[in-house]
Amino acid sequence: MASLNTQSRELARKQQIRPLAASLLALAIGLGGAAAHADDALPKLPNKTPLKVGFAQTESNNPWRLAETKSFKDVAAKCGWQVVMTDANGSNSKQVSDIQSMIAQHVDLLVFPPREEKPLAPIVLQAKKAGIPVILVDRDVDQSVAKAGRDYITFIGSDFIDQGHRAADWLVKATNGKAKIIELEGTTGASAANDRKKGFDEVVAKNPGMTIIASQSGDFARDKGRQVMETLLQAHPDVTAVYAHNDEMALGAIAAIKAAGKQPGKDIQIVTIDGTKGGMDAIAAGELGASVQSSPFFGPLACDVAQRYAKGEKIPVWVKVSDRFYDKENVQQSMQYGY
Ligand code: AHR
Repeated sequence: MASLNTQSRELARKQQIRPLAASLLALAIGLGGAAAHADDALPKLPNKTPLKVGFAQTESNNPWRLAETKSFKDVAAKCGWQVVMTDANGSNSKQVSDIQSMIAQHVDLLVFPPREEKPLAPIVLQAKKAGIPVILVDRDVDQSVAKAGRDYITFIGSDFIDQGHRAADWLVKATNGKAKIIELEGTTGASAANDRKKGFDEVVAKNPGMTIIASQSGDFARDKGRQVMETLLQAHPDVTAVYAHNDEMALGAIAAIKAAGKQPGKDIQIVTIDGTKGGMDAIAAGELGASVQSSPFFGPLACDVAQRYAKGEKIPVWVKVSDRFYDKENVQQSMQYGY
């Protein structure tokens, strides 16, 4: 069943929903200027330099996360931001307490990728109550608790469902629609894992020759991906394909496949998501079939959104990032996009 988050994004996609705050404002103007109650409005962002910005990272255990953090470090001076950074080391509760401490320090703006959809949703409401505007990047929160345009400015990120569709479409073609697939899922409860699974599984369901024989979380980590793949290979020696929710787990799976005496890219086709340098090298080596890019470069986008928001411009509830796609046809000429 689709999560509320997914349903709401699909609704936004179909109906091009504007921010609720903007709709309330339009309604207020239509009613002769009666403003919405102050408690309902999104907090304002001061138009000042430097702006104190809190960036709460989830973990720093893979190239994707490092590239995301770097993009905020790189943009800080250009954007006039004084950035306070934390690293939750893969813990939801640490990410929540990191953000609580930024709220206590009265940062002007909070920007963060919520590690999981549900545990990180209430802190968005706490920030709003404290009068601090929030921009979510990369992953989203549970829309039944905190809603983009009402409780936080916007979600800046990729269409994870579409990434799953694109990965599955490639695999259908590469296997002529016949595959026994092991799916290595990302962090349980993360919007990236929920939606990448949904998108991929939807396409597989339409192809009777494709079966997901096992699906288990590797927590978006290389070594966990390798361990899970080792175990699943023993239980399912008939596997012919792997779909990993990120490059790091795919690289872990490649190590496990080789250790089991099989050839990745020949005995077992592998498709993944991220477009890291390591993933692109594996495509060039013929071990990985394809990787759907998932851009981690949110710093400049968040800077642009914050500046427009501070000027009073309307911000869409979802600032969608478009992603490239790499396979053996274009990987050599795309190497400059790897990170
Ligand atoms: O949310 C994006 C995912 O999180 C990336 O695919 C992954 O590498 C990261 O840890």
